[in-house]
Amino acid sequence: MSRRPVRIRPVAMVHYFPDARSFALGLARAAGLASAPVRVHIFPDGESLLHVRAPAPPRAVLVRSLHDPNARIVETLLAADALRRAGARRVTLVAPYLPYMRQDDVFAAGEPVSQRVIGSLLGERFDRVITIEPHLHRARRLGDVVPGRARAISAAPAVAAHLEDARGCLLAGPDEESARWTRAIARAAGLPWVVGRKTRTSDHSVRIDFPDLPGAARRAWRRAVIVDDIASSGATLAAAARALRKAGAATVDAIVVHAIFAPGALGRCRAAGIRRVLSTDTIPHATNAIPVAPLVARVLAGDAA
Ligand code: R5P
Repeated sequence: MSRRPVRIRPVAMVHYFPDARSFALGLARAAGLASAPVRVHIFPDGESLLHVRAPAPPRAVLVRSLHDPNARIVETLLAADALRRAGARRVTLVAPYLPYMRQDDVFAAGEPVSQRVIGSLLGERFDRVITIEPHLHRARRLGDVVPGRARAISAAPAVAAHLEDARGCLLAGPDEESARWTRAIARAAGLPWVVGRKTRTSDHSVRIDFPDLPGAARRAWRRAVIVDDIASSGATLAAAARALRKAGAATVDAIVVHAIFAPGALGRCRAAGIRRVLSTDTIPHATNAIPVAPLVARVLAGDAA
């Protein structure tokens, strides 16, 4: 008697946009889930048509980093709809980088609070939103910004593990806003830390001072590592490096979580004397050296339990 092979349909699947392939495959591997790409067709007028794997298992995990965000956000919202129509009952967005988080107030009359607008859009369309190290300054928790079940994962354990051989280094956050993650990384890595005072006068013009540098212990921090959540124009890293070198640091390296690095940014960092720039892989970039998908896999495992 011939038996038809039994095909077991997965209960959960990682769906990913082509530009998030590497992160998504790392996540699928770490979480033990199947994966499938989302196909994207761009019409001549610039509109996007998506195809997700159909039928979709009941639990869908959609992966896309939302750097260079405007078109990506629209496509991500469309993918949520496609997944539900294909049968997914619970759709989780894993956005390793969540954009628009820095515009968290009206800084000049006439501006929107972009953080709340984008947070609401995503929270309304997804059952769960998971991201890494979102730039939360005025908001206490991600849930205050993204309604529903939102989860912010700290990149500190992965960055700290990468700093294991950095004994004797001083960790430097460029500004007060960076104190939270600088402290978390420093504690996990057992390193001293300090934060600077930053004044930004334009997109590319930043001044940073480190008034609290531990002068007496100067010999102990001949090596400095700047840690920040985002590098965009590179102006912040460059200004921090100049200040640290002026204060006596012999070498300055930099580690960022989200490697946006607009054109010219890396050159700006090098010109300021930064020896090495490394990043996590939340945004695909040549500086990626610290994988963070395993941190997300642990959260997904907790959700499934
Ligand atoms: C701002 O508060 C962030 O934490 C980063 O320091 C900032 O976004 C970096 O931007 P840029 O590279 O353009 O100076």
